[in-house]
Amino acid sequence: MTLQVDDAAALRQAMVTQLRAEGLITTEDVAEAMNAVPRHDFAPGEPLDRVYQTNTTLVPKVDAQGRQTSVVSASHIQAVQLEQAELRPGMSVLEIGSGGYNAALIAEMVGPTGAVTTVDIDADVIDRARAGLQRAGYEQVYVVHADAEHGVAQHAPYDRIIVTVGTWDIPPAWLDQLTPDGRIVVPLRFAGITRLIAFDRTLQHPMLTASNYRLGSFVSMQGDGAATEQLIAVTPDVGLRMDQSSELVFDVLALRKALNTKGVEGWSGTPFDMPDELELYLLTAGPQMPMLHAAQAAIDQGVVNRTVRTGTPALVRGDTFAYRMKRENPETVSGFETGVIAHGPQAEQVGAELLNMIRAWAGRYYRRGAARITYHPNPADTSALVGWHTTKRHGVLAVDWS
Ligand SMILES: C[S@@+](CC[C@H](N)C(=O)[O-])C[C@H]1O[C@@H](n2cnc3c(N)ncnc32)[C@H](O)[C@@H]1O
Repeated sequence: MTLQVDDAAALRQAMVTQLRAEGLITTEDVAEAMNAVPRHDFAPGEPLDRVYQTNTTLVPKVDAQGRQTSVVSASHIQAVQLEQAELRPGMSVLEIGSGGYNAALIAEMVGPTGAVTTVDIDADVIDRARAGLQRAGYEQVYVVHADAEHGVAQHAPYDRIIVTVGTWDIPPAWLDQLTPDGRIVVPLRFAGITRLIAFDRTLQHPMLTASNYRLGSFVSMQGDGAATEQLIAVTPDVGLRMDQSSELVFDVLALRKALNTKGVEGWSGTPFDMPDELELYLLTAGPQMPMLHAAQAAIDQGVVNRTVRTGTPALVRGDTFAYRMKRENPETVSGFETGVIAHGPQAEQVGAELLNMIRAWAGRYYRRGAARITYHPNPADTSALVGWHTTKRHGVLAVDWS
């Protein structure tokens, strides 16, 4: 059966109901905007029922290497970023990375007294965004074709900058073009992961402080702000991923050998819950760790546990490594228990070290938002930073667990 445009309003309402049920929409303003904007106008040719699923990305554009360079983001990610932005009528907003749909949602929320600028580096995306905005009746949005590394000076300053592309850093232009008490919502890459972070700045201090952060990922930034991660292949199907600034080195032959030995399991007795929060803790509270990634083939063959599928921090000690996994355990609050599996000659010790970290997180930080994330633009005074921090091109990112 082919769905008609008349069905769109019902599908849209169902999408909003589901996003509310999942706790991703928490305010009326975001719900009203998502109910108002016809998402299908920005994805011509996509089936209506697909358009209104909460977890599908639409109209992907792929480069010569097969990597996605642009998509209309999944609505669950857009809901999270809109909630993080706390938009109000009359605000001026810059959206970095375009497509039209999200700009229309923002335009709904800031209303006729607000202003929306959306910028993309890709001329095809700009044409598609313009056409969609016209179809849906949001011609007031400024659509700009440019590399957003330099912001969009002509419509600045912005009360909010919403970045919808994965970026490794916060370029000075964004801060120059942000109002003194503005907020940047940004998918920031560090330590081999991405977090959607809402950064506020205060009038007194150049430092940005995260009011909240969530899990999420985006296609990579192109142009002057493009950055790469380091990827070390242990086997053709199993690899270690690190930030470009990481100085970790590995004995790949020894790790390959370890991978072929039977793993030693250990269980923490603590619930497997909020794995993204545990992941952030493991990557920023103790020894430096890479992210362990594996192709489906390695999971199917039992080379690595299936919890590696989306990547997981690995504690590597020379010829041995360990990573976390889970099993059903009705006695924990989540119904699952966190454990570790370790491979290599020192499996008992390395496994125990990782288990101790997991227990420390469960005992002290088992909640959302326990980390204090700050960004210190150059020239950054980082003398007072005692916890984990990493130097980027335009500043220093710090994650503190004290
Ligand atoms: C996930 S898509 C944006 C989705 C969009 N906000 C929506 O409505 O769903 C990310 C976009 O960022 C763009 N992009 C990548 N690097 C950029 C840069 N340096 N400046 C501006 N846009 C960039 C890509 O061309 C791509 O269209």
